[in-house]
Formats: sequence, structure tokens, C-alpha cells
Amino acid sequence: MVTSIINIAGSEAEEIVKLWWILFVISTIVFVAVLFFLIVGHFRTQKDPKKLQRSLILATGITTFFLLIIVVATFNYSQPFKEEKKGPVYTIDVIGKQWWWQVRYPNFTTANELHVPVGVPIKFRLHSDNVIHSFWVPALGGKMDMIPGQVNELIIKANKPGIYHGICAEFCGIQHALMAFKVIATTEQKFQVWSTAQAQKAVAPQTQLAEQGKKVFIKANCIKCHNVRGLSELSENAPDLTHLASRTTLAAATLPNRKGHLAGWIMDPQSIKPGNLMPSSNLSGEELQALLHYLEALK
Ligand code: CUA
Repeated sequence: MVTSIINIAGSEAEEIVKLWWILFVISTIVFVAVLFFLIVGHFRTQKDPKKLQRSLILATGITTFFLLIIVVATFNYSQPFKEEKKGPVYTIDVIGKQWWWQVRYPNFTTANELHVPVGVPIKFRLHSDNVIHSFWVPALGGKMDMIPGQVNELIIKANKPGIYHGICAEFCGIQHALMAFKVIATTEQKFQVWSTAQAQKAVAPQTQLAEQGKKVFIKANCIKCHNVRGLSELSENAPDLTHLASRTTLAAATLPNRKGHLAGWIMDPQSIKPGNLMPSSNLSGEELQALLHYLEALK
């Protein structure tokens, strides 16, 4: 998974990294020069006032020159990105929750894992219905705040297939650090296959155990917060589980999506992510096994 801001894979990030390198080189030159003159000055004091004045003018000139380069570079690379001018072709709405990400594609809703086609500019419409969050995928582009009552737009284009790490970059409560996500950039063909599958309703239970698990899902009130399309859609307060088994992580990229982790999360989510909205449960071993069986079939 790519997390770097230098080893980048997006058009927007390419612009940002150019500015980063300019600032890095200038800062390094200035740092070395200042150290050099500090050391030289330590051994040599200038007594001639004329020479001292000339040195001061020279130093001011060099400083102004470097600052000008930084100003011009900053304006240049802060221009709206080229993709923005051409007009986006695909829109995805992302809603910052405490502490996970609801992701709305035109015809389905998912959570915490965004699939995008490579080479297509994506317009992310960023929302929050609670506190301020910030959407950031370092390898693909700049960060953008998600502010309640406002929609911010960020355009990102992934240039290489890969899995890119995303994080919340604005302190949003005690589990801010465990509010991550993944951007999975694939070929357009693979993206179409994925989105067609995601748009389907949940598969009906195929075995008796899964059927029993579905009943547990209803009886234990999971259904009141989690939507499973085809079964019920009652709330937007928790991640949509229609295709839970197709995701690779749980709890906003906190845990790998494996049976043991899922069981631990269901029984005691508060010990993993204290303060999150999901209550602990007191299912029997038998009920838990049935529920896991049901959830693991939601491909
Ligand atoms: Cu959401 Cu920090």
C-alpha cells in the first residue's frame, strides 16, 4: 500500500511534489549557507563599515530572490489543476463520519474502500454531518476539509493501478487516528466489474446457518444502524454491509476483514475503538457463529 507524498501516483500529487522539491532545495541551500556564514563570522569580524554595508545589501538581495522564486512557484502550482478545467467525468460523494467514511457512488453506497478507475479524473464531493474531517490520499493529491453544512470538491486522478492509503487529516475526536481508508485504483474494466457487483442487492442466505445468522442480525438490532440492501435500509449511521465480505478491512481500515477480527469487533468494538457508536453485544457463541456465517457470505 502506497502512503508516500514523494512516491506519487496521481496528477494532482505530481504538481504538489514539484513545489515540495523546489521548497526542499531552496531550504537546504539557505540552511547550508547560513551555517557557513555563522561559522565564518565566528572567526572573522568585519571592521570596515563599507564592506559590512555591502554584505548586508547582498544578503537582502539573495533573500528577496529566493522568496520571489517561492512566491512564483507557489502561485504556479496552486493554479486549479488541469483536470479541473477539462471537467470531471466521475463523481463520488464521501461523507466523513465519526470515525469512518461513507462512500456514495451514483447507484450504491459503501464504506471505507474507494475503488476508482485509473486515468479518469474523479470529482470527490466531500461532506460531513458531524464535526470537521479532512480527506487526504497523500500519493494521489492534496487534502481537503469536510465541513458540516458545506460541500467541498476535490479532483483527483490516479495514474497507476495500486492501493493508496487515505487518512483523516483533521482532528475529529478520540479515534481520529483510526479513521483511515483505502483507494483502490484499477483498470476501467475492473472498476466496471466491481461497481456492477456493488450495485447488486445482498445475496440471500444460501445455508441454514446463514439464514439463522440473518435472524440474529435482525434480533440483535444490527439492522437498526447497518443497511443490507435487499434486507433493509433504515439508517445512515453505520457502514453499509451489503457487500461487507468484498472489503479487505473493518472499522475504517483498523482491522483486516477476517473472521476472527470480525468476531472480536462484533462482541467488543469499544475495546478496539473506544467511543465509536457501535455497542458491544452479548450474543451466545452459537448466535455469533451464525451471524459471522451470514456476514461472511455478503460478497
Ligand atoms: Cu476524521 Cu480526523
